[in-house]
Amino acid sequence: MTGSAAPAGRASGIRRGLTSYGDEGFSLFLRKAFIKGAGYSDDALDKPVIGIVNTGSGFNPCHGNMPALLDAVKRGVLMAGGLPIDFPTISLHESFSQPTSMFLRNLMSMDTEEMIRAQPMDAVVLIGGCDKTVPAQLMGAASAGVPAITLVTGSMLTGGHRGQRVGACTDCRAFWGKFRSGEIDRQEIDDVNSRLVGSVGTCSVMGTASTMACLTEAMGIALPGSASPPAVTADRVRIAERTGTEAVALAERGTEMSTVLTRQAFENGLRVLLAIGGSTNAIIHLTAVAGRLGIRLDLEDLDRMSAETPVLVDLKPTGTYYMEDFHRAGGVPAVLRELGDLIHRDAPTVTGRTLGEELDAAGPGFPSDIVRPLTDPVYPEGSLAVLRGNLAPGGAIIKQAAVSTHLLEHTGRAVVFEDAADLAARIDDDALDVTAEDVLVLRNIGPVGAPGMPEAGYLPIPRKLAEQGVKDMVRISDGRMSGTAAGAVVLHVTPESAVGGPLRLVRTGDTITLSVSRRVIHLDVSPEELIRREDELGPPSPPAAARGYRKLYVSEVTQADEGCDFRFLQSTELPDRDAPRDVVHPRSLIQEPG
Ligand code: FES
Repeated sequence: MTGSAAPAGRASGIRRGLTSYGDEGFSLFLRKAFIKGAGYSDDALDKPVIGIVNTGSGFNPCHGNMPALLDAVKRGVLMAGGLPIDFPTISLHESFSQPTSMFLRNLMSMDTEEMIRAQPMDAVVLIGGCDKTVPAQLMGAASAGVPAITLVTGSMLTGGHRGQRVGACTDCRAFWGKFRSGEIDRQEIDDVNSRLVGSVGTCSVMGTASTMACLTEAMGIALPGSASPPAVTADRVRIAERTGTEAVALAERGTEMSTVLTRQAFENGLRVLLAIGGSTNAIIHLTAVAGRLGIRLDLEDLDRMSAETPVLVDLKPTGTYYMEDFHRAGGVPAVLRELGDLIHRDAPTVTGRTLGEELDAAGPGFPSDIVRPLTDPVYPEGSLAVLRGNLAPGGAIIKQAAVSTHLLEHTGRAVVFEDAADLAARIDDDALDVTAEDVLVLRNIGPVGAPGMPEAGYLPIPRKLAEQGVKDMVRISDGRMSGTAAGAVVLHVTPESAVGGPLRLVRTGDTITLSVSRRVIHLDVSPEELIRREDELGPPSPPAAARGYRKLYVSEVTQADEGCDFRFLQSTELPDRDAPRDVVHPRSLIQEPG
């Protein structure tokens, strides 16, 4: 392929988006002069340009295979007659992002959007992997409006510890829990630290990174079969090469992301999220990406789908296996095949073919313990449930497939922690008045409150209870939890306490009812008493910031039910975008459960 990749009348390749000097001819002359300094010929500069987002970083081992992927994508682009040019953006790793990667996701999305828009490219390959990178790239590219295709870095390999197979990061949490409870000693926890991560790549379980990888494939914005190959395999490199080739075809067709990521595509994404036992974080991310395209995702839709979509994939943290097993079991096409009519087969994909056509081309399935048939699921409903009630008028999420059965219906006494610092100071205090039947409540870790909605919603079991063998308790917060974690953990309580949500009214000693079957989270305190407490507390005073990105963040971030995107980044087509959603009046929120 040579020459123009843009629709007639629009500049293409290196001629796109010229720098403003007031003289277009001079702008192009100057641009070509500079890039020729890097050795490019006029012939090369006449090709369609495929931008490649390079998120390699010494601080991001989840993207440690970036050089190999870049080589392969470029090879694919060149094979198809395009000119590949990679460029850097922000890269986020979960463990190297202070205060939390979620705080920085929107910044990465802005960087991605503006760099795609600012630089001349006919299509862009988004290489991401670690939890927040893929959502940030989808959000940014959706707003930039340039044809885009996602390539994930792929999962890490598992390791071995004293005869046991281990992988990040479900096993990280399990071993740390054993260390806290005294089951294993300092020597063993130090030993396993070197065994949990077997290679570069993203977490080896169905955490947020693996979930987002599967969803990009299910939504048709990444190639069929691209979600599951581990980072260091030949399959991963071949997928990268083919992604480069497809990017050139995508540029030729000029297919923008909005053509692929339709409401049907998001419904396919939600369906697969439920069937794979995916991360709760993905709901926030999908909502944010959809919001960039003018599509409002509704928690009620998710809950309706959950009732009819069983969990089919037996991966940690809800199940047994790891991502490399999922790949051998057929990956996402195997799941889509099993879901049958629950999937919109006519949804378009980035290849120009429909999801159904791609599935047919992928060939027949085969029996597996890892991707189970609809008739023999891992869990009879979807992995996630949406809770409502006077504690969460805007909704809350629970990963029901990961809850200890005896806690699915539970009433207990609240033990309240004011914020993350209070939790850290008291959770392991022997004097803490707490039993296994109590409900741990942590507030002020929401989008505004922390800020950045940290993954602190997975409260540790108080040490004295852990030492007695307690493995799970009901825990409630306005924060998030890692996709690699599991337990009776109620998350994303909306509105958050820092902006006046009813979570701020809970007191130690109150009674709280969780009923997953009835989808209820309820504070058993009279409306009159809640109003009295509200009057006593006065209006909420969310944390302020004096300057910089933090100031922008706390003033613009939306609540979890809007994807925690910045209001001004959402599509102007988004229904009710300008409605005053963050104004919270407790009297309107305090209601009896339905
Ligand atoms: Fe990067 Fe888990 S830390 S995917």
